[in-house]
Amino acid sequence: MSQAEILTIDPLQPEPDKITYAAQLLRAGKLVAFPTETVYGLGANAFDPAAVERVFAAKNRPANDPMIVHIAAEGQLASVATAIPTEAATLTRVFWPGPLTLILRKTSAIPHNVTAGLDSVAVRMPSNEIALALIAACGFPIAAPSANLFARPSPTTAGHVIEDLGERIDLIIDGGPTFIGVESTVVDMTRQPPHILRPGGTSFEALKAILPSIKIANHSPTLDDSLAQLSPGLLSKHYSPRARVEFFVGAPEAVLDQMRQRAIDLLANGQQVGVLIAEEDRTLFESLHVHIEALGSIKDLSQIARRLFAAMRRLDHAGVSIVLARSFGSNGIGLAIQDRLTRAAGGNVECIVGSEE
Ligand code: TXA
Ligand code: MG
Repeated sequence: MSQAEILTIDPLQPEPDKITYAAQLLRAGKLVAFPTETVYGLGANAFDPAAVERVFAAKNRPANDPMIVHIAAEGQLASVATAIPTEAATLTRVFWPGPLTLILRKTSAIPHNVTAGLDSVAVRMPSNEIALALIAACGFPIAAPSANLFARPSPTTAGHVIEDLGERIDLIIDGGPTFIGVESTVVDMTRQPPHILRPGGTSFEALKAILPSIKIANHSPTLDDSLAQLSPGLLSKHYSPRARVEFFVGAPEAVLDQMRQRAIDLLANGQQVGVLIAEEDRTLFESLHVHIEALGSIKDLSQIARRLFAAMRRLDHAGVSIVLARSFGSNGIGLAIQDRLTRAAGGNVECIVGSEE
């Protein structure tokens, strides 16, 4: 396939003629990457199994990994999901549009390849003007996984999408950098009590305030792959840069001490080392010959989340062979950051004794 067309659209006031054009391509079965508030998605008509098939192919995504169906209005939900529990309706009222995906019973209108053969479907209403206008103009829901090659960090800019999929899809909408930077929280509403399968942009604390019974499916830093049976996308090695990642979890001071010592040892062995740290940690590493990615202040976890995936890509471009990452705690969006770093580390998690907070 030739190079994808790039279309810049105003993220606050999307130009209607551009939205109409992108919707026409989707109606014709083409693949269109578009921004959401979390990460960029690779969209196809959710009712068109042939278009959905092309999404799997473009991403090199295994067929057993189901996609999220994106809607623009509450009224669209009935065409996608059925037997919606009252607790789900409560969550959609509070959190949609926003970074919350619900697993519900699927309708027969949703092709089997969208859900990888499951009888449940993942649905969300994104909080992004371009995404909402596009879905509304299509008149059908859009099936979209994150617009990265399988197992690569999710794209938070159109440039990331071009890097991974520029020669594999039809159109890339450039709506600027995404605001949240990590993917949506996935909650399984077909289980009682509801379980969080993937922490993300909507925090556990916010969900628990509305739905006190909600539980987090096993998310210990030393992952096991049992979760992959519940949600096939949740393999333990995921979202990762090409370099080996080591993730250090525990009391911040001890974590930083160990990371620094590890960096010194690796440098002595001639390795190219990168560190994923907070702005406050910079001075500890500045005297070493390491590539520093300081994500932001430890007091601003939203900014750290927003910058995480771009930093992973920069570490790849810098050509480091090993990345040492610190934990940023597990409060609020910290849990999603911890989850992505754990998966990037693919099991290389160093748990250091002591409390995290
Ligand atoms: O923020 C997001 O969620 C982004 C934007 C584009 O909306 N999308 C995204 O999609 O992250 P994807 O495909 O990269 O991740 C979807 C996750 C996967 O872990 C998948 O296994 C899970 O949702 N999932 C989808 N359908 C499911 C189902 N029926 N049951 C359990 N898990 C499901
Ligand atoms: Mg993904």
